Amino acid sequence: MKKFLVVLLVIAVVSMVFVSCPKKSDVITIGFAQCKVDESDWRIANTRSVLAAFDVEGYRLILADSNNDAAKQIADVQGFIDQEVDYIILAAVSESGWDTVLRNADRAGIPVILMDRTITAPEELWTAWFGGSFKNEGIRAVEWIESRFAAGQANIVHLQGQLGASAQVGRTEALMEGIARNNWTLLGQQTGDWGTDPAKAVMTSWIRQFGNRINCVYAENDNMALGAIQALQEAGINVGGANGVAIVTFDANKWSLDLTLAGTVNANVECNPLLGPGVFEIISNMQNGIMPAKRSTVDMESFYWDSITQEMIDARAY
Ligand code: AHR
Repeated sequence: MKKFLVVLLVIAVVSMVFVSCPKKSDVITIGFAQCKVDESDWRIANTRSVLAAFDVEGYRLILADSNNDAAKQIADVQGFIDQEVDYIILAAVSESGWDTVLRNADRAGIPVILMDRTITAPEELWTAWFGGSFKNEGIRAVEWIESRFAAGQANIVHLQGQLGASAQVGRTEALMEGIARNNWTLLGQQTGDWGTDPAKAVMTSWIRQFGNRINCVYAENDNMALGAIQALQEAGINVGGANGVAIVTFDANKWSLDLTLAGTVNANVECNPLLGPGVFEIISNMQNGIMPAKRSTVDMESFYWDSITQEMIDARAY
């Protein structure tokens, strides 16, 4: 009996030591595969939001910037798997090409949280997606074009985002459906790679080709819309308002809303970049055994040149 009690006591003491000693890996390591940190004002705000959300005790976030190189981003994700991170957050440069590396993550037992961008890989290879609906954003933008132009009357030039990005795919799809439905003319369609300078160069060439035939610019983000505006203004062409070339854009950055208030931008559909807190909630819930919904979207607002107010802009967070 005495020997039994001694053994019991030893087991109790040893287990107390193990319980009180913190696990080596009490810190949750997150691999964050971002498209390109400084690609656009949207992406800068999005990166800041994620970094701030995980800047809390118990989490360590590793940021990989793919410089909008789809192949490098796949390697970035494989690198996180090799480092045995606890979770991967992915804002995908391209919607395709993810099956193999996500199967590796799945085999390694590492949950993948899609943020912002969607991908075409089988949905069993990722745990949750949190972001904006790009197709619905495009539908909202096309609704404004329909309010301005009757059937057959819009002559549109289309600045696409980086080809293959789900944001480009969804916004383009909405416009193409609108063009077919309204018998509008698509004068030009080309990527501006989310940037102001590339978009300005494309717009300058379109002005040379089509001149005053252009009456509407559909730019898939604010930075490209700014390039188009600069090109039009340098060509002495009236922009925005009731009679100028209509400017339709996405992201609703504050500086772009200032242009909307000034009447230079006609319609601006928000795509909220402040996704960090939502992604943090998904992962912290999973840490507590609560599985997230497969898909969850952020709210979307839209702003128009003839109804926006300074108060609305002042209330904006980015
Ligand atoms: O995925 C969201 C899009 O990505 C934003 O609209 C654009 O600015 C960014 O490049």
